[in-house]
Amino acid sequence: MKILAFNASPRKSHGITEIIMKKFLEGAEDTGAEIESHYVVDLDINGCTGCFSCWWKTPGKCIHRDDMDWILPKMTEYDVVYLGTPIFHYNIIHYLQRMRERTLPLSMPEMYISEDETHHTGRHKKQVHTVLAAVCGFPDQINFNQAKGLFPSATHIMLPYAQILMYQGGERFVPGFLDSVKKAGYELAKKRKLTEEHRAKLVVEYSDDVKKEMVEWHNEMSKRM
Ligand SMILES: Cc1cc2nc3c(=O)[nH]c(=O)nc-3n(C[C@H](O)[C@H](O)[C@H](O)COP(=O)(O)O)c2cc1C
Repeated sequence: MKILAFNASPRKSHGITEIIMKKFLEGAEDTGAEIESHYVVDLDINGCTGCFSCWWKTPGKCIHRDDMDWILPKMTEYDVVYLGTPIFHYNIIHYLQRMRERTLPLSMPEMYISEDETHHTGRHKKQVHTVLAAVCGFPDQINFNQAKGLFPSATHIMLPYAQILMYQGGERFVPGFLDSVKKAGYELAKKRKLTEEHRAKLVVEYSDDVKKEMVEWHNEMSKRM
């Protein structure tokens, strides 16, 4: 089992995206999985020019020579691709979106319709499991709507008001969350699937009372900053 992990937070090892990614990879490591992880901001990834050369001129190959040269083959050979992102303005961070746009060479130009939706055929046959782990600052799940829509078939790990993990004692608001993330790393590396019950634990929802408490706590802290 091979796992390719990306942390797209510009805060790299100082952010909450990292805390969650580390937990997931810890679980995967317990199975003996082979793990490779990268900070997206350290990678040389040019923006897609929209030239479609990777479809018509040089099928499967982009015009750019940069880190996507080694990332793309790994994205098709590895078993699990883990994408960690902060939510910026209700979306995945642009560093990750740029990387994602550069995956066009993995698709074929041909279209097919499935369940009323049109898709492109994949160039590679291997089924790679994607994990999308997102964190945000507001306490509402609505902040993840775009991210979920971009990766509908991925396993979602979604922690709102994620800064709670930085505060002393903050873990009491999300009891068992980090253990569930670690277990997800273990289970996906072992069996490539999770139970519905387990998936539900990875998408954190707060009650209205907790949200109110969080907002008050945040505002108090902001006044002191
Ligand atoms: C420019 C910017 C935009 C943000 N937009 C949102 C947002 O739309 N919704 C939200 O809940 N949090 C938003 N946040 C908060 C981040 O998602 C939050 O700080 C997150 O923990 C950052 O991840 P990291 O700790 O891994 O760096 C934003 C932060 C920044 C800097």
